[in-house]
Amino acid sequence: MNPTPVTPQTINQAAELLRQGRLVAFPTETVYGLGADASNPEAVGKIFAAKGRPDDHPLIVHLANVDQVNDWAENISDAVWQLANAFWPGPLTIILNKKPKVPLIVTGGQNTIALRIPANPVALQLLQAFGNGIAAPSANRFGHISPTQAIHVSEELGENVACILDGGPCTVGVESTILDLSDEFPNILRPGRITRSQLKAVLKTDIKLSTQTKIRAPGMMAVHYAPHTMSLLCQTETMIAMIDDLCAKGKNIGLLVFSQKLASLPCQHLLHLPEQSENYETALYSSLRELDKLNLDMILIEQPPDTETWAAVNDRLSKATV
Ligand code: TXA
Ligand code: MG
Repeated sequence: MNPTPVTPQTINQAAELLRQGRLVAFPTETVYGLGADASNPEAVGKIFAAKGRPDDHPLIVHLANVDQVNDWAENISDAVWQLANAFWPGPLTIILNKKPKVPLIVTGGQNTIALRIPANPVALQLLQAFGNGIAAPSANRFGHISPTQAIHVSEELGENVACILDGGPCTVGVESTILDLSDEFPNILRPGRITRSQLKAVLKTDIKLSTQTKIRAPGMMAVHYAPHTMSLLCQTETMIAMIDDLCAKGKNIGLLVFSQKLASLPCQHLLHLPEQSENYETALYSSLRELDKLNLDMILIEQPPDTETWAAVNDRLSKATV
């Protein structure tokens, strides 16, 4: 399945495919999503089959506007509208109590539902044309790296999708921040571009950052968001020592670095990412895919700083590496 160029006509065709219960991959500002009609359990089931995803792993429902939140969730507090006002459309997913009519297959059997209005214009046009919620995980095989370009989806999910809308490269590049508001205290289940400080500034309350909860949180498995090649996260100095050692043993290695100090290391497969966290984030997944294609013995990844703006990157890298 080749990516389809976006026109008003192909958007309408994609919406029609969704109505027929088929799968449509579409761009969001974070990563490409694998969409199905969220009200159609049979269609949603195809997502799990295409991804090889365990069926207790809940999906995010994407919406066109805030009015639709009431169709999916109940007990909606003021905090939700404040966050929606500040961050939607955008890379924030909010977990709320679900309406009884929401199919359990969407929520992995849970009584909570994840909702998000994405900021990508193609995603919004598709959501408007479809007129209902679109359930969509990242459009990759379960556990693998999320796709940030249409071609990644066609390489990985191929014929399992009825249409792949090509909206160009994703501008954010890592999955949305997930904030759980279904419990007593707000809790970040997955860090993303929208930081804890930004959320705190709007909610004016403390927010936990805990990916370990009673409900199944993203990437709770040891390896997630991962390349097939064995990947290691290393401090800058360790990396220099390891490269010498591995090269002496004749190993074919790839390097993913961001500091100036490592940019000119003598390694054939070195990718130098931006030193600014947001630009690094945008380039991360396509760089990992590029290195993963080379059949290397190992990928060494330079450990980024332990600061808030790097939280999403550090979370994904810790899950992509052994
Ligand atoms: O940026 C994103 O969030 C992208 C784009 C396509 O919107 N989507 C995405 O979906 O990353 P996915 O399925 O790869 O990750 C969503 C995560 C899942 O790992 C799931 O565990 C969590 O959201 N999730 C969904 N509903 C939940 C719920 N009710 N409680 C706890 N976690 C939930
Ligand atoms: Mg995913």
